[in-house]
Amino acid sequence: MKTLLINAHPDFTNHNHFSVQLQEKFVEKYREKFSDGELTVINLYEMNIPRIEADGLLAIWDKQRVGEMLSPVETVIAQQSAAFLAQFKEHHRIVISTPLHNFNITSRLKDYMDNILIARETFKYTESGSVGLMTDDYRLLLMQASGGIYTNNDRYTALDFAPNYLKEVFTNIMGFNQFDLVRAQGTNVLSADEVWETADLSLEEGFRHFYEE
Ligand SMILES: Cc1cc2nc3c(=O)[nH]c(=O)nc-3n(C[C@H](O)[C@H](O)[C@H](O)COP(=O)(O)O)c2cc1C
Repeated sequence: MKTLLINAHPDFTNHNHFSVQLQEKFVEKYREKFSDGELTVINLYEMNIPRIEADGLLAIWDKQRVGEMLSPVETVIAQQSAAFLAQFKEHHRIVISTPLHNFNITSRLKDYMDNILIARETFKYTESGSVGLMTDDYRLLLMQASGGIYTNNDRYTALDFAPNYLKEVFTNIMGFNQFDLVRAQGTNVLSADEVWETADLSLEEGFRHFYEE
C-alpha cells in the first residue's frame, strides 16, 4: 500500500516546528511497521504547483474544454498539474502535515488541492449532485499543529474549519473511505511537554486506525 506524505510547511526543513516533528514521528512509526513500504514524501514549498490564475490553470482548463491548443508555457503547466493528479491517485494512503496559519491550511496546500479536485478525475457531477470517484479504500491522515486549542467546545470550536474542510472534501466530495486527524495543539499556550503528552497519544491512535486492516 503506497503512502504519499505531503508536507505543507513553508519552513519544512526546520525541525523545531511541531508539524515537522509530527511528520518525523510518523515516518519513524511507518518504518517500524513497514520496513520496505513505499513512502513518497513531497514538500509543497519546494515545488512548482500550478495555480488557478487567469494565465494559469483557468486559461488551460478553458482551452482544454473546447479542444484549443495550449501554448508551450501552458503545456508545461498542464503537465505539472497532471503529474500531481496522477501521483495523488497512485497512493491509497495520503498523509498531510501542516501548521495552522490564520485558521486555515497553508496557501500551497490550497494550490495542491486545486490540482487534485478535478471533475471526472476525483469526483464527477451527476443530476443529483456530485459523486466521489476515489472510493477504492483511499484514506487521509491529517497531522495539524496549531497554536490554539480547538477541542474545548468554546469560541475556537467554530474556527476549527481547516480539518473540517479537508475531511469533507476528501470523504464527502472525493469519496475517501476514512479520515483521521492527529493534532499537536496549544503550542502557543502550553509547554512543549504538555503539547506532546496529548499529541503523541493522538498520533498513536491516528496511525493505528489509518493503517487498520
Ligand atoms: C502566520 C501564522 C499564523 C498563525 N495563525 C494561527 C491561527 O490562526 N490559529 C492558531 O491556533 N495558531 C496560529 N498560529 C500558530 C501556529 O499554528 C503554531 O505556531 C503551530 O505550532 C504551527 O505549527 P508548526 O509548529 O509546525 O510551525 C499561527 C502562526 C503563524 C506563523
